[in-house]
Amino acid sequence: MTKYHIQGGKPLHGSITISGAKNAAVAIIPAALLVDGVCRIENIPQISDVTLILQILQELGADIRTVNRTTVDIDCSHIRNRQVPYELARKIRASYYLVGALLGRFGWAEVPLPGGCDLGGRPIDQHVKGFVSMGADVDVRSGLICAKVPGGRLAGGQVYLDMVSVGATMNIMLAAVLADGMTIIENAAKEPHIVDLANFLNSMGANIMGAGTDVIKIRGVKQLRGGTYSIIPDQIEAGTYMAAVAAAGGDVLIQNVIPKHLDCITAKLVEMGVEVEELDDAVRVRRSGPISRTNVKTMPYPGFPTDMQPQIAAVLCLANGTSVLTEGVWDSRYRYVDEFRRMGAHIQVDGKVAVIEGVPALTGAPVHACDLRAGAAMVIAGLAAQGVTEVDGIYHIERGYENLVGKLAGVGADIRTITVPDEDAKSQAG
Ligand code: EPZ
Repeated sequence: MTKYHIQGGKPLHGSITISGAKNAAVAIIPAALLVDGVCRIENIPQISDVTLILQILQELGADIRTVNRTTVDIDCSHIRNRQVPYELARKIRASYYLVGALLGRFGWAEVPLPGGCDLGGRPIDQHVKGFVSMGADVDVRSGLICAKVPGGRLAGGQVYLDMVSVGATMNIMLAAVLADGMTIIENAAKEPHIVDLANFLNSMGANIMGAGTDVIKIRGVKQLRGGTYSIIPDQIEAGTYMAAVAAAGGDVLIQNVIPKHLDCITAKLVEMGVEVEELDDAVRVRRSGPISRTNVKTMPYPGFPTDMQPQIAAVLCLANGTSVLTEGVWDSRYRYVDEFRRMGAHIQVDGKVAVIEGVPALTGAPVHACDLRAGAAMVIAGLAAQGVTEVDGIYHIERGYENLVGKLAGVGADIRTITVPDEDAKSQAG
């Protein structure tokens, strides 16, 4: 069993370079299924979710060639197998994008229900509604999403999403690019990765208008051709390191970011007394004084991202005064709170609201990463805490953060990965 061992209390100094965006990569890679020819995709993050989605494409018969550490060539011209392997699909949320991509390309898809972080109910009814509006028959049974178009090719449809859904917006976009006629998605999500997927598809010959607004129009085209595309930097990875500097203190230049995508995070950190300087493709984050309390509510973009909620909670645990955190996207995203309490945090949760009473210091403790962003938040708390924190369940963190230990150690954090014998792990778990 591997864990992160963190000796807290060291301010962070230096620079960190941000990798490509996980939630863009896991949609853009399946989108290559729609393309006739070679897609060269650059700025791919080295994280386990990306490895998994590439593996799934390979199982389907895609020809995948690694060009360098962050670039792959994907050729899906000769896909021979359309059965998505259960063992791989169930491990990753983004496997649902295979439904839109396979349905758009072949008029038929059978994909195991996806996995991913446990954040309460994660229904896919809006994805299904979109596919049905384009003429597909969709059946969710025996753990499979089975979708089929009677005529073999989807027809443009119109769908109004009942709630703003990132996954449904992207999946419907994937299905629609090769459909006959125009598809309109209303109440669409506007996250940077929605725009990135649209830019990728357009650069391969698709005709998508309005991505980044709440109405997206997709005029179907006959074929997509190969090309080269570079994935945007990861907004949430950058935000996580911004929160780490806010909690631990210090002065760090966070490079290879799009500062505009960080505005929603920057605004809250500034309210909390953190200095954030925006440069062309970097932000400099400094904190030496006290952390001020504030209230945060998570919302779809351009609101404060739910995927930053646990990390900002780690900072608020150390603020002067009481803060109110409201989760506006997921039903259950406070499973990490008990772990924070083990470190001395004062947090009360009632439904979607957490009341955090700041304490002067957290103390190191053994804690468990119960999901990806909660795990990142445990690391942030550990960096700021007095004493040693050991975080287990780190496979969750490695799903979405490239070289987290190396990047933090590079700015002076005392963090390393340790391996403990399984017997020790069992007796601790007991
Ligand atoms: C994406 O999940 C991200 N995952 C999540 O990031 C992120 O938290 C979420 O968007 C919101 O930003 C990926 O991109 C792989 P949604 P997704 O559809 O698409 C409800 C991370 O840490 N809903 O926008 O699955 C749903 O229950 C992960 O990187 C329906 O009711 O999220 C939720 O309350 C965790 N029916 C809300 O909409 C549907 O058909 C938003 O979900 C779809 C969604």
